[in-house]
Amino acid sequence: MKKHLVPLCLCAAAFLISSNFAAQAAPRERLSFDSDWLFTKGEPLYLDSLLAYTNIQSWVMSTGSQFVKDGQVVSRPSGNLDASCAHPDFDDSAWQHVTLPHDWAIAGPFDPNGPGDTGKLPWEGVGWYRKHFTIPASDQGRRIYLDIDGAMSYANVWLNGQYVGGWPYGYASWQLDLTPYIKPGADNVLAIRLDNPPDSSRWYPGAGIYRNVWLEKTAPVHVGHWGTYVTTPDVALSATTVKIQVAVDNDSDSDATVSVKNEIYELNADSTKGKWVGSVTTDGLAIPPHASQLSESQIVVNNPRLWSLEKPQRYVVVTSVEQLGQLDDQYNTPFGVRTIKFDADNGFFLNGEQVHLNGVCDHADLGALGTAVNTRGLERQIQILKEMGCNAIRTSHNPPAPELLDLCDRMGMLVMDESFDCWERGKRPNDYHLLFKDWHEKDWRAELRRDRNHPSIILWSIGNEVPDQGSPAGLRIGADLTRIAHEEDPTRPTTAACDHIQSGFDGFQKNLDVFGYNYKPFEYARVHAANPGLPIFGSETASCISTRGEYDFPVQTNKDDGKYGFQVSSYDLSAPPWATIPDVEFKGQDENPFVAGEFVWTGFDYLGEPTPYNYDAPSRSSYFGILDLAGFKKDRFYLYQAHWRPDFPMAHIVPENWNWPDRIGQITPVYVYTSGDSAELFLNGQSQGLLKKGPYQYRLCWNNVKYQPGELKVVAYKNGRKWATSILETTGPAAKLVMTPDRDKLAADGKDLSFVTVAVTDKNGLIVPDAQNWLHFAVSGPGEIVAADNGDPTDLTAFPSHERKAFHGLCMVIIRSELGEPGVVRLTAIADNLQEATASIHTR
Ligand code: GAL
Repeated sequence: MKKHLVPLCLCAAAFLISSNFAAQAAPRERLSFDSDWLFTKGEPLYLDSLLAYTNIQSWVMSTGSQFVKDGQVVSRPSGNLDASCAHPDFDDSAWQHVTLPHDWAIAGPFDPNGPGDTGKLPWEGVGWYRKHFTIPASDQGRRIYLDIDGAMSYANVWLNGQYVGGWPYGYASWQLDLTPYIKPGADNVLAIRLDNPPDSSRWYPGAGIYRNVWLEKTAPVHVGHWGTYVTTPDVALSATTVKIQVAVDNDSDSDATVSVKNEIYELNADSTKGKWVGSVTTDGLAIPPHASQLSESQIVVNNPRLWSLEKPQRYVVVTSVEQLGQLDDQYNTPFGVRTIKFDADNGFFLNGEQVHLNGVCDHADLGALGTAVNTRGLERQIQILKEMGCNAIRTSHNPPAPELLDLCDRMGMLVMDESFDCWERGKRPNDYHLLFKDWHEKDWRAELRRDRNHPSIILWSIGNEVPDQGSPAGLRIGADLTRIAHEEDPTRPTTAACDHIQSGFDGFQKNLDVFGYNYKPFEYARVHAANPGLPIFGSETASCISTRGEYDFPVQTNKDDGKYGFQVSSYDLSAPPWATIPDVEFKGQDENPFVAGEFVWTGFDYLGEPTPYNYDAPSRSSYFGILDLAGFKKDRFYLYQAHWRPDFPMAHIVPENWNWPDRIGQITPVYVYTSGDSAELFLNGQSQGLLKKGPYQYRLCWNNVKYQPGELKVVAYKNGRKWATSILETTGPAAKLVMTPDRDKLAADGKDLSFVTVAVTDKNGLIVPDAQNWLHFAVSGPGEIVAADNGDPTDLTAFPSHERKAFHGLCMVIIRSELGEPGVVRLTAIADNLQEATASIHTR
């Protein structure tokens, strides 16, 4: 049994962030293992009963091995199975060919009668994956690892019919050692069984091997799994000390004495290696057979380039492990030099400068793409959020995809990295509480180890609204999770997102380094007074609900009774009973400047949880997003932009629709969201008055505008100077389609995406705000339509469909390039009686 001198008992291996280093001549290979998988949904025939009650060997989950089915507690399947699709000779010729990341449920179909809270999609149940592959005979003697960034959920893995292991938490990243089972120079068959219990999630969790998978090969002596830890304990502009900890594993049968050389390079914006900065070598690290040893060293970097939101500059440590002058391993660890501090009286500081956290919470799904991770899909989301002035993302309520953290590092976005939505007490009969006792420490340490070198991460969140708050167990577990976080990474504070008011007073808060309140803008002052020295922030705020383009009259607060087509009016006045509109949270933050900031629920609409229409409704996705499920901006985007980017001149008119033929002469309120301090509104040239923002006022409201078709114009001012202008016009009838790809040049890598907006416009190109024409899409060339969406939470058209209605004049079509096929992809959209549109996208 290998002795780890570090406290995490995971299989040994390593983690490379940037593939740009893969070309280096090192004995470590990290190969994408995403292609050529076979998939089937469900349990092949006779296996169901066999599996359901089998409980064999290494995969022991005690409490986690039980779940509730038809009111009965039954055992979860586990262990070695001969007569199954884990067997190498199993006939899988009829299985579906898939490429990972793969979300088996996202294609639907939607079940109109299915539960809205998990998106009406078929994510429950069992799915099997198989992959036939070979590795060269020359790999004999190397260590071979399978790295799974995420599989939903209860994964069990067999190689060549032998049980290897697994991991139940669907949001965890994990690694298995394939070495004892793999056959170099011969055919191998990997089989993975996943199982999503019913009633195990509060939102759409996705299904399948939805993140990337890697095959990693190393020499027997190598850097351990997530085995480096790089910190900068004392940062100064003149010089900083970089501390580098490397765990080296010796998986051989003999003693090893190694030298560990660490070199620091600047990392270029495109993640390639830049200028050499410094190096240090530690000789004579002795590691007994099947043991692990830590090497610790430091390098002083003069005049460090700091990592910041504006300039997210990074470095990389290149670690080389040598034995008798021969290179055994080379491993890269990107990192950043920056300081973070939460101050109880003054908020959050990055590199000594106060930064108000303008954050959003987001779930893992990418709308119509489902939970299947896509780097461009995530990058686009971050670009849109940055445009709004957002500077922080909370990974609610679980460990995120590694790609998200890489992007946040690269693009300058702060991260609150969350772990669990529940502890010992659950929120759903089959959720994580079944696993908590046996798995929380493994899951939590795995997350901390995987993520602790990312400069973007500023907070470790030990949980969201855990029902254990207010109980002795809550105090015990909170203390334990914070202890573990401090053991793994003493450089960052812990927090939790607390919904119980009492959690700020009953001792629960004492186990957190920074206190997070969900939806409590009225309590900030009280909790601050009661807890001198404890920094505070809004860990989840607002939960305003709206549908893009929907406006209901008369304008009123919380009009969401379902009479209105299961939509929510976009005057941004609705929120569920526990929540508030954005303005109330803004005031809470502004009145209490010690509050470090907020994380709005949510940045983007997500699949499931369609509050207030969770039951007996057609809705499949949420209304909480500042952006809709397709990524189109709702009015609220501009309310946040006005507040979060005060120096960016902008003005936005609500409603974003001046076509109300039935409202001529009727009161039709007009709101303006502007970063200015005052504005004058004109209807067909006639002033409707100049309004100034009062204290704690975040929107300007003209409540008595009588509708006339024509032109609505707003002129905003700031400090007495003209600041921004915006015009909204009554449009003519729908005449044509207009297509705008967000990118017209893609990498021909089978992963890159273009998000193409299709707009229904009048003859002058103005978007017709109530257009809902059926659109038909066709594509030619080396690309495919992956999915389309229009942002309507009630649209149950399957996402891959090539036909879809426009929703308030817009539709989004997502094009993916083909691997290795450069050329021109042509997307055409047609609709009855409208001039068609074509977009050309070049792949290379
Ligand atoms: C919170 C919860 C979130 C989401 C939100 C909706 O209480 O933490 O996951 O459910 O409510 O407002």
